[in-house]
Amino acid sequence: MIGGMHRFLGTLVDEHERILDALAALYDYARFLAPIDEDPRGTLRDFSRFFREFLDGAHHHKEEALLFEAMFDAGFSRASGPVACMNHEHEDGRASVAKLSALSDGAGPLSPEELASLVEASADFTRLLASHIAKENQMLYPLAARALSDETFDALAERARAAHSLAEIEALEALGEALSARCAAR
Ligand SMILES: [Fe+2]
Repeated sequence: MIGGMHRFLGTLVDEHERILDALAALYDYARFLAPIDEDPRGTLRDFSRFFREFLDGAHHHKEEALLFEAMFDAGFSRASGPVACMNHEHEDGRASVAKLSALSDGAGPLSPEELASLVEASADFTRLLASHIAKENQMLYPLAARALSDETFDALAERARAAHSLAEIEALEALGEALSARCAAR
């Protein structure tokens, strides 16, 4: 327990900060650096990999396969309400990552149309996730903290470690930090 919140939830909150940092870097990259980057598609492949493997593969896995399932077991609805809503927003996030991946395909500099759609996709993705993450931090996780026991959280943390090794998570965190160091304007 850290400050009344189980470390399983604390880790998810920390991951949100990393995700928001990477999104800020992506938005800055789209506006300022992409037009002058020698290998914009390579950079976009790195961003896509971070969002695919850290946001979706690791973070959303912990939420969807572990936390949300435990909340369904505790009586939350699969069809409607807060957990179902968060699941739905994850799908919207996957659509944004697919747009980034599509832009990273091909070779050579990005066309003016591709640059414009990169800025738009980054802005949409940032808006979506900033609001989604605020809802999880301020509403969903406090609901989970009240509904689930410490023993349940211990079991979820154990299963999370089994699904993704610390080394795997740290490598993805390092990728996010490298992208922020390279691309964030602030
Ligand atoms: Fe989340």
